[in-house]
Amino acid sequence: MAVRMVAVALGALLCFARGASGAGPTISTSREVTDGLDVVISCNISGAPTAIRGHYWMKGNTKIQSDDTSADSTSYMLEKVDHETSGEYECFFKTTPLAKGTVYVKVEPHVVAYKKSEHGNERDVGVLICKSASYPPVTQWSWFKMVDGPQPIVNGTDNRFFIKSDGNKTELRIMDLNIEKDPGEYRCNGTNEMGEGSAVVSLRVRSRLAALWPFLGIVAEVLVLVTIIFIFEKRRKPDEIPDDDDGGSAPLKSNANHKDKNVRQRNAN
Ligand SMILES: *[C@@H]1O[C@H](CO)[C@@H](O)[C@H](O)[C@H]1NC(C)=O
Ligand SMILES: *[C@@H]1O[C@H](CO)[C@@H](O)[C@H](O)[C@H]1NC(C)=O
Ligand SMILES: *[C@@H]1O[C@H](CO)[C@@H](O)[C@H](O)[C@H]1NC(C)=O
Ligand SMILES: *[C@@H]1O[C@H](CO)[C@@H](O)[C@H](O)[C@H]1NC(C)=O
Repeated sequence: MAVRMVAVALGALLCFARGASGAGPTISTSREVTDGLDVVISCNISGAPTAIRGHYWMKGNTKIQSDDTSADSTSYMLEKVDHETSGEYECFFKTTPLAKGTVYVKVEPHVVAYKKSEHGNERDVGVLICKSASYPPVTQWSWFKMVDGPQPIVNGTDNRFFIKSDGNKTELRIMDLNIEKDPGEYRCNGTNEMGEGSAVVSLRVRSRLAALWPFLGIVAEVLVLVTIIFIFEKRRKPDEIPDDDDGGSAPLKSNANHKDKNVRQRNAN
């Protein structure tokens, strides 16, 4: 069984090697790009297996350019090299089979905080996130607490600080948030072969009680309203009788008139 699997694997390898080194086309690509404006990237083909019926360029899953000419070279212009245009650009020659080359556009990590300011409640878990969507992916992420300069945060410290990272994203989790020690600024650093980039996230920690304030506020508001209504209701009853008497005589004209209307309306209801 194992022997047969090895044989199959070897066979596949041999086929692959023959395909790669055999009579297939050679595609030469322009060099990788790391900066500039109006940069032209290109691919040339030699030894095309069939006639060339056109070309197209892909970036990720998006077709960004195509044509139907038979030229043995194709090019694509980048207006600007930055984190948005960085990536792997693939040129295709429409032959049978398709022939493909790749041009790499690389920049240093473009690191941004998912949220510049985060807050958590005391004893909850605080989560700080940084992302980088540039190419190539970040190979090394690190976190620092800014206290008179950056203090590195080691994964697992105090069994409270945990870091989870991949090429696009890093997440710092702080368990059991401490209102004395944890608030402040945190910096995430991302490094790739081109350099590094960083962002700062500030963390605020609210006391458990503070989390209750909005709720207590509403309760207080309701209590005040109920009290006011209660007091007015209580006051109104004895008032109504002298109000009626006032009705006829009018020593203070304007005031009395207003009162009068109010009383009549009230009585009508
Ligand atoms: C493709 O070929 C043209 C000339 O035929 C040459 O000027 C250009 O530099 C070549 N480009 C690449 C990427 O090899
Ligand atoms: C940090 O430690 C946890 C386990 O304690 C692990 O799952 C995680 O991958 C580590 N993160 C990094 C960046 O090493
Ligand atoms: C980066 O994010 C994209 C989607 O946003 C995902 O497809 C890709 O797998 C991620 N790369 C890494 C290295 O995690
Ligand atoms: C973190 O990044 C900043 C700026 O991007 C850089 O100045 C600093 O040296 C980096 N720190 C480390 C330890 O890599």
